[in-house]
Amino acid sequence: MATTSKPDKLDEVRKAVDRLDSETRSADQLMKGITLLLNEHMLKYNWVGFYMLEPGARPPVLVLGHYQGAMTPHTRIPLNQGICGAAASSGKTVVVDDVATDSRYLACSLETKSEIVVPVFVRGEVAGELDIDSHFPAAFGAEDRNIVEYCAQVVGKRLERERAATS
Ligand code: SME
Repeated sequence: MATTSKPDKLDEVRKAVDRLDSETRSADQLMKGITLLLNEHMLKYNWVGFYMLEPGARPPVLVLGHYQGAMTPHTRIPLNQGICGAAASSGKTVVVDDVATDSRYLACSLETKSEIVVPVFVRGEVAGELDIDSHFPAAFGAEDRNIVEYCAQVVGKRLERERAATS
């Protein structure tokens, strides 16, 4: 019997993100495009947004950038607060299957059940992060982690190129 495997989601998103990377005029536009793409394409990604470290801020603070989804009260997050702060300060992806059981969680919407936050690196340093909330518990499995980490990587490389060109 012939086997036809359907193209996996990671592959599809990779291609779409690569296309966005080559078609957008700035890292800022790329980030906007990624929030739109993931929010539209991935059914369980109900809130998708970037937080970027404010340049020169001491103590460091994450500032909300482009996002899709409900308005959030958390537009500035210090690194010692929230799941966002945990991901940025550790430089590691954080996946929370049930936000109700995580004392670090800063509520954005009552509907949110699970969350993934992936750091964006520029020249090996955390420059910001991609944050995704879902209305479904445990929405972020291994494939989702790969997809979101790929998006964060492409943004980091784009920021590197952009910052090298303007410095
Ligand atoms: N839940 C995040 C705050 C950002 S909102 O989800 C958009 C946190 O705990 O850091």
